[in-house]
Amino acid sequence: MENHIEKAKKHFEKILKEQLERVDYLKAEPDWTDYSKLKPIIIGILGGDGIGPEITNHAQNVLEFLLKAEIANGIIEIRTLDGLTIENRAKILKAIPDDVLEEIKKCHVLLKGPTTTPRKGDQWPNIESANVAMRRELDLFANVRPVKVPELGIDWMFFRENTEGAYILGSNGINVTEDLAIDFKAITKQGADRIIRMAFDYAKRNDINKVTVVTKANVVKTSDGKFLSVAEKVAKDYPEVEWDDWYIDIMTAKMIDPKRRQQFKVIVAPNLYGDIITDEAAQLQGGVGTAGSANIGKRYAMFEAIHGSALRMVKENRQQYADPSSMIKAAALLLNHIGYQEKALKLEKALDICAQYEKRIQITGRSTGATGNAYAEYIMETLEDPNLEEKWESYQ
Ligand code: IPM
Ligand code: MG
Repeated sequence: MENHIEKAKKHFEKILKEQLERVDYLKAEPDWTDYSKLKPIIIGILGGDGIGPEITNHAQNVLEFLLKAEIANGIIEIRTLDGLTIENRAKILKAIPDDVLEEIKKCHVLLKGPTTTPRKGDQWPNIESANVAMRRELDLFANVRPVKVPELGIDWMFFRENTEGAYILGSNGINVTEDLAIDFKAITKQGADRIIRMAFDYAKRNDINKVTVVTKANVVKTSDGKFLSVAEKVAKDYPEVEWDDWYIDIMTAKMIDPKRRQQFKVIVAPNLYGDIITDEAAQLQGGVGTAGSANIGKRYAMFEAIHGSALRMVKENRQQYADPSSMIKAAALLLNHIGYQEKALKLEKALDICAQYEKRIQITGRSTGATGNAYAEYIMETLEDPNLEEKWESYQ
């Protein structure tokens, strides 16, 4: 037994050292990238696994369609990056192969298809998730996920902490003995501060008078308690923004309470809770296939779908029917982030028209519906329509 404890202590010591070093890094964080000063802005495209390459390709087409002039002028470069596949990652037992990470770091922003996250018992070795690794390697601390369902009065903006919480050490737990498994969850003052501040900033900038902080601080007292106490402090810097705090369990309930849910506007949560409630929210919007996700750090940013690689669809040979909306929405978030707000808004309107209002063709995920390619073309036709604005207004 002594021996087991000694081994676990060593493991914990290593984790503590790494995390304290991370805190030092956070204290001296670089400033935000100013995209207006970059020429060209390099957009890296990573297809991912399963349905990823297919739907990413459609999103890339839409992006190239909207950025035709900028690409021709050399203001923007679109670069396709290979090698972030589960086959490759499994072969070398790494979440992100070193050479791919090197290429990724040469880009400024990324559009990434879903990557398969292995789990025990899979056909793949149980390596760390590429998503989690990328968020950590590029310090993409903010996972920003908008969800809108106008007819239900839902207009939510989620700020999910993306680099710590239950995730950061999710592949670093320890089986102390065969009977005792321990995982670690870490929340830092700096990590909590920057995501909570971002949520409050967003609320203030957009005249939204409500931020909701989600934790389970009544039970997970130390780390969630830290998150909540940082929120109390940050809130003092934003006296014009009201805020409240909810526990994750009742939050998931109230999000499906028609009377209550309209009150939520900007929501900020530690990593795992944010993961869970953003899937729930996306489902209310029409499924996880409809939601995009921005992973934002001060230096890099990565935009993706919120769903997985849907290997089942590929096995059943229906990847061509996968809904590319989430990736196209991610492309809109990317455009917005690098300074093309107008194009981003136009794309969002086109997506709304196609998915929520006009619905000339629909995706079902099977041959009963349109292909992803046909759907992307429908979106581009809608973008080309000189009456797009009027059309959109008429539905409001
Ligand atoms: C998400 C996904 C990822 C996560 C998985 C694929 C690791 O569910 O982006 O929400 O849990 O963060
Ligand atoms: Mg998730």
